[in-house]
Amino acid sequence: MNAASDLLRQEHRQIESQLDGLRDALVNLPAPRMAEVRTHFAAIRTLAALHFRKEEEIFYPSVRGFDPKLLAEMDEQHEESRVAERDLEALLARLSDAPSERDLTELHRLGLMFEDLVQTHILAEEDRLLPWADRTLRSEEQQTLAIRMDRLKT
Ligand SMILES: [Fe+2]
Ligand SMILES: [Fe+2]
Repeated sequence: MNAASDLLRQEHRQIESQLDGLRDALVNLPAPRMAEVRTHFAAIRTLAALHFRKEEEIFYPSVRGFDPKLLAEMDEQHEESRVAERDLEALLARLSDAPSERDLTELHRLGLMFEDLVQTHILAEEDRLLPWADRTLRSEEQQTLAIRMDRLKT
């Protein structure tokens, strides 16, 4: 029925499970949870990189014409997530596994901001983009988009 939207929803659940892990590790800092922060962050980066490409290269272009303003907002949220991801990546790269109090505060702030941006974006898609795509795209279009997105592996 809504194969493409459902594929994206399913990937959202995978990303969210890692976001929960990241948040949990961040709020239970200091030090012992550093390894978990790194693991969840790496998993989110991998999942989100491919997920964003599926959306930007395949799903968004197919629906952009129907609501350019909403799609521009989605693009902007992707960009904000990427900026936060790069900042968090840079911070984690220079942190040891026993960071200073000051670095932990920064990690806490940046990590939760990143988590919030990605979660907010997922909700925006699920509340505003996907239900509308479900109503607008024909079943065969959903199917074709799902197959194309599924082919995108790296
Ligand atoms: Fe997205
Ligand atoms: Fe998404």
